[in-house]
Amino acid sequence: MRIYEAKDYQEMSRKAANILSAQIILKPDCVLGLATGSSPIGTYDQLVEWYDKGDLDFSEVRTVNLDEYKGLDRENDQSYYYFMHKHLFDRVNIIPENTYVPDGTEPDSGKECARYEELIRSMGGVDIQLLGLGHNGHIGFNEPDSSFARTTHCVDLTESTIEANKRFFASADDVPRQAYTMGIGTIMRAKKILLIVSGEAKAEILARAFFGPVTPEVPASILQFHSDVVLVADSAALSKFSR
Ligand code: GLP
Repeated sequence: MRIYEAKDYQEMSRKAANILSAQIILKPDCVLGLATGSSPIGTYDQLVEWYDKGDLDFSEVRTVNLDEYKGLDRENDQSYYYFMHKHLFDRVNIIPENTYVPDGTEPDSGKECARYEELIRSMGGVDIQLLGLGHNGHIGFNEPDSSFARTTHCVDLTESTIEANKRFFASADDVPRQAYTMGIGTIMRAKKILLIVSGEAKAEILARAFFGPVTPEVPASILQFHSDVVLVADSAALSKFSR
């Protein structure tokens, strides 16, 4: 595993964007696995800046997102579909038909998850998967005690995740209780993983994920077994790492 320490969120975002840019330049028709949350916003802003300068071309890039709330439609401003269009897709020359997010409006979980998993396979897999880290160690929406083998599936969100994500909704009651997410098995098949972590509030869970035992209680700990992981974190997030 390679670890890059950034001094702050902005430097973390720039470094992560550098890594994604390198992927796009080396393989213009690559498959990017993308994430939502506050962690990747700066990374997307940086990519847009380089696109505006003419340094990046998304015309052949394909993307698959990690997850989506079940029950939210595309127009809902809390859906991850909406988030991705707002922060990245509508700001660069990516072809909308080449961007994929699980369909939160499909009520049949088995059908949607099987469709999404097959879609990723048909694209030849993910070249680089961008990940944030949940406060309880989740990646995507794979909550603690998720099986490491699972592919895309429907999850019941934990109270701590609902609590953490309620800041984006009018109230905790408005946070959907379920989501579709790539499973750990799906994530682990990505050829490369790029994990970005920022802030002191994530320091302890980050240390547990990378220096603690590999356990389903800390879903991100499985990344210790991936052969090509890059962690880009700011100093605050790395403050509990033993060197
Ligand atoms: C959500 C997303 C995750 C994300 C996590 C952390 O639950 N499903 O993919 O990594 O939040 O979010 P943040 O970056 O805002 O801390």
